[in-house]
Amino acid sequence: MPATTGGPALAAVVVLAAGQGTRMRSSTPKVLHPLGGRSLLGHVLAAAEPLNAGATVVVVGSGRDVVEQHLADIAPAALPVVQHEQNGSGHAAAVALAAVPDLEGDVLLVNGDAPLLRVATVAALVDAHRAAGNVLTVLTAEVDDPTGLGRIVRDDDGAVLAIVEERDATDAQRAIREINAGVYVGDAAALRRSLASLGADNDQGEQYVTDVLGLLVAEGAPVGGVLAEDADDVLGCNDQRELAARRRTLNDRVLDDLMRDGVTVVDPQTTWVDVTASVAADAVLQPGTQLLGRTSVGAGATVGPDTTLVDTEVGAGASVVRSHCLGAAIGPAATVGPFSYLRPGTRLSRAAKVGAFVETKNVEVGEDSKVPHLSYVGDATIGRGANIGAATVFVNYDGVAKHRTTIGDHVRIGSDTMLVAPVTVGDGAYTAAGSVITSDVPPGAMAVARAPQRNVAGWVRRRRSGTPAAQAAEAAERRAEAPDGGPSDAPRADTDK
Ligand code: UD1
Ligand code: CA
Repeated sequence: MPATTGGPALAAVVVLAAGQGTRMRSSTPKVLHPLGGRSLLGHVLAAAEPLNAGATVVVVGSGRDVVEQHLADIAPAALPVVQHEQNGSGHAAAVALAAVPDLEGDVLLVNGDAPLLRVATVAALVDAHRAAGNVLTVLTAEVDDPTGLGRIVRDDDGAVLAIVEERDATDAQRAIREINAGVYVGDAAALRRSLASLGADNDQGEQYVTDVLGLLVAEGAPVGGVLAEDADDVLGCNDQRELAARRRTLNDRVLDDLMRDGVTVVDPQTTWVDVTASVAADAVLQPGTQLLGRTSVGAGATVGPDTTLVDTEVGAGASVVRSHCLGAAIGPAATVGPFSYLRPGTRLSRAAKVGAFVETKNVEVGEDSKVPHLSYVGDATIGRGANIGAATVFVNYDGVAKHRTTIGDHVRIGSDTMLVAPVTVGDGAYTAAGSVITSDVPPGAMAVARAPQRNVAGWVRRRRSGTPAAQAAEAAERRAEAPDGGPSDAPRADTDK
């Protein structure tokens, strides 16, 4: 999809991200706060990315080391430019343009704290700007509550005259409900010229980028304002309550898209899906599900309730119940949970099973193989059709290094086996319950690695005399000595199966 209907690519995208974000009351720079799978800054960059601008400039200041590091991670081609003192958004824009002195043509200026901005909204702004032949066009929105935002002042014919910050506005201007979104497209040369003549004669004593509009109007240059179709798009994020509200709106959008595409979301209120995750039609997301990062869920799979998947792939028809999975790949028709913990490098083949209270890491589980209960499986390859008995531990760590275990096809590992790596259990082999396996088991063998059982007869009578155990033992002995098996002293409970 081309982002705009035509015209040359934008010369640059300039993101204003040097502000302190004092109102967040957080040690994390504002633009780094995450929501829906990206930072605030990441969302803004993603909205502008399809414009294919010649350059991306990000003005950094507060917390600039961490912001620059983050930028290098998510947008290595972007150019960070330092605004040493936060003298206002206009000063930030001037600093950015000074860093790219040869740039000509249209520039998109955008606040770094507008995470709901969409590609289509930015593209519509650029298109309208070009269609009108403006030197500057500002994105606006009609909102119910304009508190704290810059107001768009228009003349009787509807032409944009100025942007007035709330703290500098008259009562009449405060009543205006059309606000400045903090997204502008303008000609680089005109911007440079007007930014250079910005004053700071306002309540905050800062250079406001918004004043550029009034300056250009005074020059007689063509400027305009474009109303965003969805006012949610332009909402900024100045404190933690707004961050939570933006996160909820973003999530609602993601879930709406999924439901439109045939995904069943049982409880949208408690289901959270990052913009970077994907879910195929006919998948079912049960309440309390979080799909984070690059998670993907295949057709007909069920996830949840109460499941968090991070960077995890769930195959078609698989099921993941009450589990926590990080960097795992769950094959088609595989089953996970309840209460499983899959850690990075876990790969389950088709129809494999990982059950209750099982932790896995760096392991391949073959087709139809099962790790049903209470086990730790780390650094291992398990063949097909194998069964790992309850409470088995893959003893992979000697305190210094990790070692691998290899389990063949159709192996039966007895309950409570310790597999001390490095070790290999050959195809079709068995291990006896309670074994500590320290050397390889050949294919088809039964490995028994446990002390033979020794019964010390009469120990309880001698060493625990008078206890209920001793009395029960004595009664049993009397019954056994009686010629007909004897009458029992007490009714005997059936053995629990
Ligand atoms: C700004 C607009 C306001 C608009 C609102 C939309 C100004 C003067 N006002 O207000 O009209 O309605 O956004 O959300 O721009 N920044 C810097 N360096 C600075 C100061 C700010 O880079 O010295 C950056 C901030 O990081 C932020 C952006 O500029 O991304 C806007 O600054 P902010 O303080 O958030 O302005 P608002 O009061 O929200
Ligand atoms: Ca803001």
